Amino acid sequence: MTKIEMFTGKGGVGKTTMSVAAALHYAQSGRTLLISTDPSGSLGEIFGRKLDQKVVRVADNLDAVELTRKLVLKLWREKFADEIYTVLSAFLPVGREILDYIEGAPGIDEEFMLDYLLTMAQSGDYQTIVWDTAPTVTTLNLLFVQQLFYSHLTQAQKVYLKVKSVFSSVDPLTLINEWLDLTARIIEMLRTATRAWVVANPEPLPVAQALDIATALAGFEIGVNGFILNKLLPLELCEPHPFWRAKYDAQQDCRKILAQAAGKRPVKEIPELLGNMKIDGFLSEVAQLLCPSVV
Ligand SMILES: Nc1ncnc2c1ncn2[C@@H]1O[C@H](COP(=O)(O)OP(=O)(O)OP(=O)(O)O)[C@@H](O)[C@H]1O
Ligand SMILES: [Mg+2]
Repeated sequence: MTKIEMFTGKGGVGKTTMSVAAALHYAQSGRTLLISTDPSGSLGEIFGRKLDQKVVRVADNLDAVELTRKLVLKLWREKFADEIYTVLSAFLPVGREILDYIEGAPGIDEEFMLDYLLTMAQSGDYQTIVWDTAPTVTTLNLLFVQQLFYSHLTQAQKVYLKVKSVFSSVDPLTLINEWLDLTARIIEMLRTATRAWVVANPEPLPVAQALDIATALAGFEIGVNGFILNKLLPLELCEPHPFWRAKYDAQQDCRKILAQAAGKRPVKEIPELLGNMKIDGFLSEVAQLLCPSVV
């Protein structure tokens, strides 16, 4: 199965930068898909193309797509709306407007993003999928919703079995079982094919959050490759200036805390660069710094 490499971390720490750099690198050795599940993602700006409508070829061997809420809900409608209506209308006297209501419910887009990831992973089209995630809370929510959905479906199945005799024309149980199976496959994909890099900046809050994320991912049984400590200031530049020297020392304290807490997991270090997100230059420099550890 396609390998999924996930980049996660607090807002603004460099997830997208690392994702693009890693994707460019993977694309040198096989077909690669870069997916962003950040609703305010910036992949489109980096590649200078609209990526929020469909998968677009952005470089040799490299496709990219931004899963905005709008795109996700459109795809969700196409794939699941009829099935959901069939199940609900078997239980309740509802019209198709119920789908508008469900579409607005929290968690639907999160739920479907993972289904999309699974579809792409199973398509066999890609050797690697690089997954640029939204900042911490949203991403953990996404994983949590998946588990919640699984337990809700299990309940729905039990309820249905109790009232089964009342219905005769449709068989929602088959659909519920299919969803249950799909959800189980998504959880399986997260546990077996997905590995995470947790990105942090050398500051107390991003480091603390990175460690929390690593613990949460372990709780979901998602493998953590290691940490990326991004935007470290170089000593030679800081030394002559008291302000920058103090900043450097503070960064080094955070660096030690992360290294200690990371234990055996690697911490990949990336310096603060003169970057403007251009693919030639900054991003290929980051790619070289990340490799071969990421790859
Ligand atoms: N090593 C670096 N040196 C200099 N600038 C960097 C470096 N890494 C990232 N940046 C810059 O920092 C900013 C934030 O990076 P990026 O967008 O990758 O973070 P993010 O974690 O994806 O943010 P968000 O949570 O908003 O999606 C960008 O302007 C990027 O160009
Ligand atoms: Mg980003």
